[in-house]
Amino acid sequence: MTFRLTDLTHPIIQAPMAGGPSTPALVAAVSRAGGLGSLAAGYRTAADMVDEIAAVRRLTDRPFAMNVFVPEVHPSAPGDLDAYARALRPFAAELGVPAPEVRPAGDDEYGAKLEQLLADPVPVVSFTFGLPTAEHAHALQEAGSAVVLNATTVAEAQAALALDPDALVLQGPLAGGHRAQHDQRAEPSELPLEALLDAVRGLTSVPLIAAGGLATRADVARVLEAGAHAAQAGTAFLLAEEAGTRPLHRQALEAGRSTETVVTRVFSGRPARGLRNAFIERMTRHSVIGYPEVHFLTSPLRAAATDPDGINAWAGTGYAHCRRASAAEILADLAP
Ligand SMILES: Cc1cc2nc3c(=O)[nH]c(=O)nc-3n(C[C@H](O)[C@H](O)[C@H](O)COP(=O)(O)O)c2cc1C
Repeated sequence: MTFRLTDLTHPIIQAPMAGGPSTPALVAAVSRAGGLGSLAAGYRTAADMVDEIAAVRRLTDRPFAMNVFVPEVHPSAPGDLDAYARALRPFAAELGVPAPEVRPAGDDEYGAKLEQLLADPVPVVSFTFGLPTAEHAHALQEAGSAVVLNATTVAEAQAALALDPDALVLQGPLAGGHRAQHDQRAEPSELPLEALLDAVRGLTSVPLIAAGGLATRADVARVLEAGAHAAQAGTAFLLAEEAGTRPLHRQALEAGRSTETVVTRVFSGRPARGLRNAFIERMTRHSVIGYPEVHFLTSPLRAAATDPDGINAWAGTGYAHCRRASAAEILADLAP
C-alpha cells in the first residue's frame, strides 16, 4: 500500500541532504525511530543511488524517501559563468587547485534515476528544484511510490498540486541549504512559512509538509497547529552521529553560534542558506545565476578547503539548536 504521512509514529521528516549528510545510517535511524528518513540522490550517480537504497533496506524495513533534483529548465548564461570562473581564479591559486573552467552541466542522471525508481520502487520519491512531468509523477504512483513535491510560493504550490502529489513540501525562507524554487532565476521568496502554509491550506486537501528553520519541538508544534501534517527538518540533523556531514561543516556549526546565516548564490549559482563566512564575503559581489555549473566550478575549491571559511556550511536559521546526538535522540527532541 502506498505510504501515507499518517503512517508515521512521529510527524517528522528528516530532510534529504545531498552532498554527504543523508547517509543510509541516518535515514534508517530516523525511520526506525518512527519518523521518515530521506536519502538524497543529488550529485550522485544512478548506480550510487541504487547502492544507498540497498543499504537502507539492509538496515530497516520501515518506509523511507528518495529525493531527486529536477534538471534546470532555465539554463545559465555562458558569459556570466565565464566571468565567475575568472573571479574564482585567485582563490583557486591560493588553495593550489587548477583554475576553474566552465563545463557542460549534465542532468544529474535524472532519467536513469527515474528509470531505476520505476523499476524498483521505494516508498516515497520527492523532487526539488522543479517538477517532474505528469507522466513521470503518475508512473511512480502507479508503481506504488508516494510522490512528494516542493514549493516555495503559492504559484509553485498550485503548479505542483496540478500533478496530484501525495504530499507537498512548503519550504519557507529560513530553510538551510538550497531553496527549492522551481526557477533558478527567481529572487528567493520571503513569504514566511506560516503565511505560505495558510495560503496553500485553503487550496487543497493534499497533506502539507512544512520546512525551513524548524529546529525545536515548539517550532514543530507551531507548524502542526498552523495546519501542516508533518514537519521536515534538515539542519537539526546535521550534527547527528549517523549523518555524513563533513568535519569542517560540523566545526562551522559548532563554532558558529555567534555568527549568522545568509542566502547566497556564491557556491552553486542557486540561492541557498548557509553560515556566513569568508568565501561568501569575498565572492558575493561576483555572484551569478548559474546552477549547476557554479556548483562544479566551486567544488574543487570547497574540497581543498582546510577551514570552515572555505566551505558551503549550509544551515537554516535554527542552527544554534543543533546538537551532537543520535538521530533517534534528535527526533525525540523534535517530536510533539
Ligand atoms: C545540508 C543540506 C542539504 C540539503 N539538500 C537537499 C536536497 O538534496 N534535496 C532537497 O530537496 N532539499 C535539500 N535541502 C533542503 C531541505 O529539504 C529542507 O528544506 C531544509 O533543510 C529545511 O530547513 P532547515 O534546514 O532549517 O530544517 C538541504 C538542506 C541542507 C541543510
